Amino acid sequence: MARLTPENEALARDVIARYPRPKSATIPLCHLAQEQDGHLTDEAMAHIAELIGVTPAEVLGTASFYEMFKREPVGRYVINICTNISCQLMGGEDLLAHAEATLGIGAGGTTDDGMFTIEDVECIAACTEAPACQVNYRYQHKVTTEDFDRLIADLRAGRRDDIPPHGTLGKVRQELRGDQIANITAPEQQSEPVWITRSEQGSKTP
Ligand code: FES
Repeated sequence: MARLTPENEALARDVIARYPRPKSATIPLCHLAQEQDGHLTDEAMAHIAELIGVTPAEVLGTASFYEMFKREPVGRYVINICTNISCQLMGGEDLLAHAEATLGIGAGGTTDDGMFTIEDVECIAACTEAPACQVNYRYQHKVTTEDFDRLIADLRAGRRDDIPPHGTLGKVRQELRGDQIANITAPEQQSEPVWITRSEQGSKTP
């Protein structure tokens, strides 16, 4: 897969129409492309650039800032295992070592069947539930090695339909009816910028 499918291009145009400037849709469209292909391809970024009127380099410049956008293929399930301090104290490093041994890959690797990628990550804000991990950014709390083995078996058997393939942000896509759109105007089209009002009140703020 490369460029956005016709269905996703139509959805992309719908998303773009929600913003005062097409460029503001860069990140939502990157998510859409990642949901389509599992990662963000060069072709999809070029297509996004066409749709929002910027260069592919500008799309790349935005996307490459964010770790959640994957520019290379990853597994159907990306497993982030936290080894930061709380999780480390509660067995996070042992859990990572177990995951690597079980799946036969190191952190950053993907299994040959394309099912799993493991990542060794910093704190994922679930310290009270240590050791914690995420599968496609869905939290798994207080994970033992037995829990991990069960998780992998369930994912392989298709028993975890609460965890969609990598790239899927939500199970329900937001839809805006026409009468719910905010009709926002771009800053340069607004009649009186806020800072002028402040200046008239004697503020030194430019
Ligand atoms: S240290 Fe692991 S979630 Fe915070």
